[in-house]
Amino acid sequence: MGKDVIIACDFPNKEKVMSFLDLFTEEKPFVKIGMELFYGAGPEIVKEIKQRGHKIFLDLKLHDIPNTVKKSMAVLSGLDVDMTNLHAAGTVRMMEAAIEGLTREDGTRPILIAVTQLTSTDQEAMENDLLIKEPIDKVVMHYAENARKAGLDGVVCSPLEAEKVHSVCGKDFVTVTPGVRFADGDIGDQKRVMTPEQAKLIGSDYIVVGRPITGAEDPVAAYRRCVKEFVG
Ligand code: C5P
Repeated sequence: MGKDVIIACDFPNKEKVMSFLDLFTEEKPFVKIGMELFYGAGPEIVKEIKQRGHKIFLDLKLHDIPNTVKKSMAVLSGLDVDMTNLHAAGTVRMMEAAIEGLTREDGTRPILIAVTQLTSTDQEAMENDLLIKEPIDKVVMHYAENARKAGLDGVVCSPLEAEKVHSVCGKDFVTVTPGVRFADGDIGDQKRVMTPEQAKLIGSDYIVVGRPITGAEDPVAAYRRCVKEFVG
């Protein structure tokens, strides 16, 4: 899997995302489309951005019964996305069904990664709301192993977990890490952050970067800086 910077295009509508992408005249960054843009603009937005030559990570975090996930993944695969995801909490069977649905007739499929525990869930919420009493890092690694067993390609995790995920699941198991900030930038609402350079050193395969690029005065320069620091 190639190392790359994925821009989180957290925009509310098509006009805003397209005018942002228009800034990139020389390169075609890998972009992440999340629920807000997908639900607001519809599946057409995926096709349009794809036609402009961008790779797409469709971040919809599916979690349902195996049959529903299988059929929905077949639809997403038909949109020709390059990467998509689901919640590992949906069980190994659901993840296996997702792979089946995602696999095209010619045997190809988008990269499929799992969300383990959301970073918004802490130990207390996990124990009280979900009745999971194990330490959260153990739960995260267990979910990552389940994802690997089901045949998924990797997980979304904090850059601080990437090294451990690789040691538990193998170095080819992909780690996609948000929470990236420049050393001289604002951290905003992210709590545990790393610079692109640090993320590279600890072995992240893809970094997902939103506001440090989308909110920069010169987004193209910020993207190039990110690529330079992370990919080299
Ligand atoms: O703007 P920022 O760089 O914080 O954007 C990070 C992106 O990664 C957002 O789209 C956010 O929803 C996503 N994300 C995250 N933390 C997770 C999972 C996803 O920040 N644990």
